[in-house]
Amino acid sequence: MANKPVTAIIVGAGHRAMAYADFSLKYPEKLKIVGVADLDKHRQKMVSEKFGFSEEFCFDSAEELAKVPKFADAVINGTMDEQHVETSIPLLEKGYDMLLEKPFAVNVEELERLIEVVKRNNNKVMICHVLRYTPFYSEIKKRILNGEIGKVVNIQTIENVSYHHLSTSFVRGKWANSEKCHTTMLLAKCCHDLDIMMWLMGEDKPVSVSSVGSKMQFTPENAPKESGTRCLVDCPRVDFCDFSAKRLYLDHPNEWTVYVWRDLEDVENPTDEQRRELLTHSDYGRCIFKCDNDIVDHQSVLVNFKSGATGTHNMVGGSPEPLRTIRVIGTKGEIYGEFEKGIIELRKQNPAKERYFEKEIIDLSYISGEGHSGGDERLTEDFVNFQRGESHSVSCTSIYDSVPGHKVIFLADKSREQGGELVHINL
Ligand SMILES: NC(=O)c1ccc[n+]([C@@H]2O[C@H](COP(=O)([O-])OP(=O)(O)OC[C@H]3O[C@@H](n4cnc5c(N)ncnc54)[C@H](O)[C@@H]3O)[C@@H](O)[C@H]2O)c1
Repeated sequence: MANKPVTAIIVGAGHRAMAYADFSLKYPEKLKIVGVADLDKHRQKMVSEKFGFSEEFCFDSAEELAKVPKFADAVINGTMDEQHVETSIPLLEKGYDMLLEKPFAVNVEELERLIEVVKRNNNKVMICHVLRYTPFYSEIKKRILNGEIGKVVNIQTIENVSYHHLSTSFVRGKWANSEKCHTTMLLAKCCHDLDIMMWLMGEDKPVSVSSVGSKMQFTPENAPKESGTRCLVDCPRVDFCDFSAKRLYLDHPNEWTVYVWRDLEDVENPTDEQRRELLTHSDYGRCIFKCDNDIVDHQSVLVNFKSGATGTHNMVGGSPEPLRTIRVIGTKGEIYGEFEKGIIELRKQNPAKERYFEKEIIDLSYISGEGHSGGDERLTEDFVNFQRGESHSVSCTSIYDSVPGHKVIFLADKSREQGGELVHINL
């Protein structure tokens, strides 16, 4: 007999949870959404109508949901970073399995508290490391597992965060101020990159880390003399500043919608006038140089592994174009790739060849797909298999698999705060 669909409740119905939940509309035989918990009544209504269940299964918070008897196999937890642990614990104690957004905790103490609960209740918890499910990173993992470059000696990852992404999310937006969001730039932006590094290193675990970085770009001292405080209210530079809210948001109303136009979510077809009005008072309309941002805009991390192998990750905010690059050098060959372009170069040692190596170009640029090149959908499908106890992919990231990447980040930030001192990692 065919398996019944895994039943799941959405907790925190933001754009991330909905990206995973949409899988159930395409594959109703695999996943069924049967309830929602969110502080926002409008979001509750939107979810119940979309997935066809009654008000009885709508709850005002994760805590309210935890008060009623368990009525589904799993929870898709898409609350914000700093809410992951507090919203997850009561539901895990209740016996729910969970697809949980990254970062699953915002500091070492939280991480340990959550792991203890998961161990005690034996819940199946998978973390949304969507990059592992993209054709690009899956291919690199496959080639390393096949032994094509030998034993990894060094990994170099770089993430160029575009100036418009940096300004929207990390200077004006939700992850700009560590006191408000409780995360660092490395945790919010590079959780995937460090996870990829740990995943590719396999059984070779990190033993120490050091890191440096700073906030050097968007400070009041760097503001042009004549700049105002709000782009659309009092700034004479509104039509030519590269960070003008008019040029970044009003002129591109279909970009960054889930962040910049969040407060117009309930409005069916917002007009330009409504958008303009919102920017006169929302965080996204502030002068980029006069926000309350305190996180770094660039950071470098150096990781030492047990075998003696090394890894570096450079996050650089402010580039014209977003780009992730990776180079993995092994004892027999090397891999180089540019994620956004979908091209990987594999070079293998070969003295019989001209220039002493052979080269293969792996072109994955033809693979497209919504949501991280189809990664969101593959991840959700893998969660269904994982929850059912069926065979799942090599990309599958249980909460235990996600610990090394999280710990490296927490300790890298500790090192950065101590001026780059080497910090030892206990896994
Ligand atoms: N995997 C990825 O590639 C990726 C990409 C972007 C964001 N994220 C992560 O996804 C998460 C969600 O981001 P988002 O932008 O979708 O968030 P969001 O702010 O749009 O949604 C969060 C929702 O949680 C609800 N909520 C808050 N407290 C709650 C509680 N106690 N009980 C129930 N609901 C509660 C809020 O009302 C809100 O609707 C974040 O942790 C973010 O870092 C992951």
